[in-house]
Amino acid sequence: MWNIITEYTYLISIILFIMGLKKLSHPETARNGNLLAAAGMGLGILITLIFPMEGAPNNYAWIAGGMIVGGGIGLFVAQKVLMTKMPEMVSLFNGLGGACSMLIAFVELYNLEPGTSLGDGQGLTTLFALFIGSISFTGSLIAYGKLDGFLRDSLVLPAPQFINMGLLIVILGLNGYAMTLPGIDITWILILTGVSLLYGVTFVTPIGGGDMPVVISLLNSFTGLGAAGAGLIYGNQVMVIGGILVGASGTILTVLMCKAMNRSLLNVVIGGFGGGGQASGSSRDEVVKEASHADLAIQLKYSQKIMVVPGYGLAVAQAQHTIHELEKNLASEGVEVKYAIHPVAGRMPGHMNVLLAEADVDYQRLLELEEANKEMPSVDMVLVIGANDVVNPAAKEDPSSPIYGMPILDVELAKNITVLKRGMSAGYAGIQNQLFFGDKTKMLFGDAKASISKLIDEVSNA
Ligand code: TAP
Repeated sequence: MWNIITEYTYLISIILFIMGLKKLSHPETARNGNLLAAAGMGLGILITLIFPMEGAPNNYAWIAGGMIVGGGIGLFVAQKVLMTKMPEMVSLFNGLGGACSMLIAFVELYNLEPGTSLGDGQGLTTLFALFIGSISFTGSLIAYGKLDGFLRDSLVLPAPQFINMGLLIVILGLNGYAMTLPGIDITWILILTGVSLLYGVTFVTPIGGGDMPVVISLLNSFTGLGAAGAGLIYGNQVMVIGGILVGASGTILTVLMCKAMNRSLLNVVIGGFGGGGQASGSSRDEVVKEASHADLAIQLKYSQKIMVVPGYGLAVAQAQHTIHELEKNLASEGVEVKYAIHPVAGRMPGHMNVLLAEADVDYQRLLELEEANKEMPSVDMVLVIGANDVVNPAAKEDPSSPIYGMPILDVELAKNITVLKRGMSAGYAGIQNQLFFGDKTKMLFGDAKASISKLIDEVSNA
């Protein structure tokens, strides 16, 4: 009877996950989707606590302690985190998910009766959860360090592809051998865990420059697979399906990111792409043309079509509400304003969509890369706001550039370009941008939010 209740409740949880995931695919419904999926997870946890697995010891005090401490830290961090630090937080949480799978697998291996063979499906699943959870854990921590900037891309490993391939072969060999043993001891488990943790480090360390989005979504899918593996260990459907959903959606996102970055998935799996290459620079005697707020405001007001290209700097400046206000003011003057969204603009998948949705920008105004590029020739003025790499022509013109091959927003096809940024600093990939020195380009220096606020005043005075 209790089993049936548990199974049906798990089914409801799974339905909530799927409905939540579906809603997450659109900015307008994403918030509700998140709540639905969270409700599904809450339900799954609750029913597992009420009807624990047969033979499970009474660990309620430990569980309650873990939930209060973990939940408390999660709540505190989620409330305090700055929007610009969200990708780092996602990476950390992802790593913790991987650590959970690793620890579950570790404990299950450790608790095996002496002489138990791992040469069956259960053994394979447990070893898989240990391996994949370990990679997600250390890989996500390295990704966190890189996103936060305290681990530099200059930290290079010699011949990373060979190190990674070598470690992968060692791990497969160790696991294969473990499965042939009549029993496994703690030394084996520790070696397997240690090498897998090391692989997570060597896998992510060589990846840098603009290639981090791909590895972040790949690690996300690994965490999902780790959770699914842990679910298989316990025969828990809600963990298996929840994990598979994360793994599958992470894999789809990885493929989309690969496409956006023009990288092959094989490169990602072997590791060691990006990062290298020469930083394409400008010759020292090149000068930029500066725009003034007043002149730009007049140009904007008398334009027919304006394309806003938001980037990471828009998130840093928290200028999403301000740009929406400028957009509404211009729209009331009869100007058509659209936003060109590059798939890897910002620091996490969908970063710009999330920011603009937060400011209630009409989703219809948001154009994806190909769509935006088609419209570029008819645009009177492109406002590049805190974006850099995603509009860098080096991606098309300079084979030595680390971002060479990445599709970019072809803003140079528009009639005029104004770039809003604080100075001449490089973007995430650390390379100079020739667009800023182009004939059609003017620079409006300053914090994006302050510059747009001044533009709003000037537009209403013009
Ligand atoms: P970036 O190339 O990183 O450029 C951002 C620019 O914003 C900087 O050059 C900076 O110049 C400017 N900026 C910073 N704060 C500002 C402020 N308060 N006001 C105005 N400007 C400001 O950004 P992007 O074009 O969005 O490209 C994203 C990059 O991140 C790509 O290389 C991508 O591969 C990488 N990445 C993306 C993701 C995902 S999934 N989206 C994840 C990891 C990495 P100043 O300092 O001179 O102002």
